[in-house]
Amino acid sequence: MKKPHLQKQDKQLYTILKKEEDKQQYKLSMIASENFTSKAVREAVGSVFMNKYSEGYPKKRYYEGNYFIDELESLAIERAKKLFKLPTDWGVNVQPLSGSPANLAVYIALLKPHDKIMGMYLPDGGHLSHGWSYNPTPEKKGFAPNIMFYKGGKRKVNVSSKFFEAVQYKTNPKTKMFDYDEVEKIAIKHKPQLIITGGTAYPREIDYKRMKKIAKKVGAYYMADIAHEAGLIAAGVNKSPVGIADIVTMTTHKTLRCNRGAIILAREDLMKKINRAIFPGLQGGPHNHSIAGIAVGLKEAMAPTFKTYAAHIVKNAQRLAKELQTYGFDIVTGGTDKHLILVDLTNKGIFGKKFARALDCAGIIINYNTMPWETRPPADPSALRVGTPWITTRGMKEKEIVVIAKWFDEVMKIIATWEESKEDVPFADFNKKAQTSKELAKIANEVKKLCKQFPLDI
Ligand SMILES: Cc1ncc(COP(=O)(O)O)c(C=O)c1O
Repeated sequence: MKKPHLQKQDKQLYTILKKEEDKQQYKLSMIASENFTSKAVREAVGSVFMNKYSEGYPKKRYYEGNYFIDELESLAIERAKKLFKLPTDWGVNVQPLSGSPANLAVYIALLKPHDKIMGMYLPDGGHLSHGWSYNPTPEKKGFAPNIMFYKGGKRKVNVSSKFFEAVQYKTNPKTKMFDYDEVEKIAIKHKPQLIITGGTAYPREIDYKRMKKIAKKVGAYYMADIAHEAGLIAAGVNKSPVGIADIVTMTTHKTLRCNRGAIILAREDLMKKINRAIFPGLQGGPHNHSIAGIAVGLKEAMAPTFKTYAAHIVKNAQRLAKELQTYGFDIVTGGTDKHLILVDLTNKGIFGKKFARALDCAGIIINYNTMPWETRPPADPSALRVGTPWITTRGMKEKEIVVIAKWFDEVMKIIATWEESKEDVPFADFNKKAQTSKELAKIANEVKKLCKQFPLDI
């Protein structure tokens, strides 16, 4: 997209934008929660829809002049209904500003302050907004890891654990996967009013039917947060919780490949309360430009090509897991059903933070992450989370994945020879070495060449 006005009017900002564009173009973005939106989506987000205030819902607004905004929001709702194959007694809200406010709105709608919620323990793959709190270790560097489940840590990090009593469940210590019998036991013991599934770093599909059964048994609502896999579910590549869970929340900017935002789907009786919780309970005017982008992205996700795209995201992630295994990388749960893999670096002896920085210097952007039964501090955890949505948007397939896996191995081999990689050497020293490493820069150059073969049409 051309930006003549920005370039003329605000050189300082334009320069920053150009640098970000170049980075997105010439580095490999492999952060599981990111994607690259189409020009049409970005055009809608940058449109005059951003100028209109429209507190309320279609045909029930508090400001005049909303006839076209009503059309826009209704269109987004209809598209979400169609894409996610909503039962006739389900409704949609497209106004949440993002995933965390969407989840909070559901809690506000259906619970009283201090009611109990039960979500997955964050280091095992759960999200902050699912009730994250923890007990710090005595030296305050990390969290006490060796517990099977967790009832209300002292450090209440998120609003979801400050205003509600949060109980957490963990993965099975051997398989690092959901342990449904254990989840059931915890639910029976603590009787939460709401059970939540979904995660930021959980590579496997969730048995929504089993979770609904558990929720039903203890009289809880069941909310499936599909922030990460929304696009895979829309494409039919992963199973859908729609019609099984009571409420489904999602962000729109990950595998679904829209701009930043969120959608809530729920049975109509619950949706009435959720709508009131979003507005006037939690938010003011909706971001109509975001809703416009989401409407465009939802249309794109209905196209047959999106199905092929989503299938390729998973194929690429599965191939990456296999390739990395051949280089001795330990893949948590042995593989993936989705768009992301978790790499346990314990056997390599160089952990998440240093390896992630070295990869960045080699042109590959990923994030360091905790893993199930984590024993290290969250600021320098044991694992890497690697995702394939963005590189699949570029058109990369298995052939390119093989090369990318080789680069992971090469980077690890390079830094394994460095004094600075040792655990007791400060990160700043490592960073300096990585930023000036000719060997890493050489890989970054090869990455750039590959990126040029799969250009983002910025
Ligand atoms: C499972 C899950 N839920 C909610 C969110 C929150 O989304 P946002 O960052 O848009 O608030 C995320 C974000 O990564 C997520 O992974």
